[in-house]
Amino acid sequence: MVRAQLQKKGQNLKDLYGDIKKDMDEVEKELRLFSQSPNKLIAEISTYLFQKSGKRIRPALLVLCSKLFDYKGKEHIHLSALIETIHTASLIHDDIIDNSEFRRGIESVHAKWGPNITVLLGDYLYIKTIGLSLQSSYPQVVQILTDISARMIEGELNEYYLSGNLNVAEKDYLDIIDKKTASLFSAACQIGGVLGNATKREENILIDFGRNLGISFQIIDDLLDFTGDEKTLGKPVLSDLSEGRITLPLIYTLNNDGKANRKRIAELLKNKDLEKDAQEKILDIVKSNGALEYTYQKAEEFSLKSKRTIAQFPKSIHRDSLALLPDFVLKRKK
Ligand code: IPE
Ligand code: IPE
Ligand code: MG
Ligand code: MG
Repeated sequence: MVRAQLQKKGQNLKDLYGDIKKDMDEVEKELRLFSQSPNKLIAEISTYLFQKSGKRIRPALLVLCSKLFDYKGKEHIHLSALIETIHTASLIHDDIIDNSEFRRGIESVHAKWGPNITVLLGDYLYIKTIGLSLQSSYPQVVQILTDISARMIEGELNEYYLSGNLNVAEKDYLDIIDKKTASLFSAACQIGGVLGNATKREENILIDFGRNLGISFQIIDDLLDFTGDEKTLGKPVLSDLSEGRITLPLIYTLNNDGKANRKRIAELLKNKDLEKDAQEKILDIVKSNGALEYTYQKAEEFSLKSKRTIAQFPKSIHRDSLALLPDFVLKRKK
């Protein structure tokens, strides 16, 4: 594909998924099937959950990576839906932990059904996914899914534990986002490779690609928490700040702004439920010292790494689509 065409394709997800549209439609159907349950409450909440689709970036990664190897079977559909279900389970738990009332532009599950039911539904989705993965003719897949589910929870745990801790270092932050977010991205890519009978070397390239892409994705997510538009994002902004999550813009500020601002931020963050004007004060500091630019540059670094990694595969339309994702992740507004 010529450069201009490629650039256009990379601008929105619909174009980016254009070559795998049929498969992505099948994934949607499969997700709808998962929502069916004889249990009325499970059926009701699952239907609510799957009515608003997110970006579907993880299933798209799995499908595209399997197609790099010309995979012709059907399992990629089912496994993509499982990956998206793990993501969904992690989100509904995460919204409880983060006290977040909105997700994808509608009330979050815990805001509607309360935290008790939401915890149980998240558990149900996790365990159901692992159970369904046992049907795969690729036994390695079960191991991958259980490993990353545990790793994601570990990342969320570490993040919560370090809330309000102003001494969090950049490397602690990177370790957290690697676990809580990048591990699922890399698993989606790896499973695509497993289906396509990739060699160990190829599988490692896919893991590396997904990992760097996932890290870049989360850094941008954390940046959008400061700079994004709530309506476009469909979830609250300045929410990390109000929950005391010390993400990269704040880490940079604490390490590079002067002592006075560090002290001011420490004072402001002492209050558990951060008032709007305190949030604005911190935002002003973060905006004035280059922290947002630094954060974007970090995301760019990881995005570039992922681009270089995927370039190791021979050229194909699916490799082109994968290679456009790192740029999409950087430019995304939601
Ligand atoms: C949100 O993921 C959670 C993070 C890892 C930042 P997405 O931004 O992929 O959420 P949806 O699926 O598109 O809603
Ligand atoms: C959580 O990160 C990512 C998960 C693995 C669930 P965030 O807390 O930043 O995700 P959002 O902003 O709520 O989507
Ligand atoms: Mg959250
Ligand atoms: Mg976030």
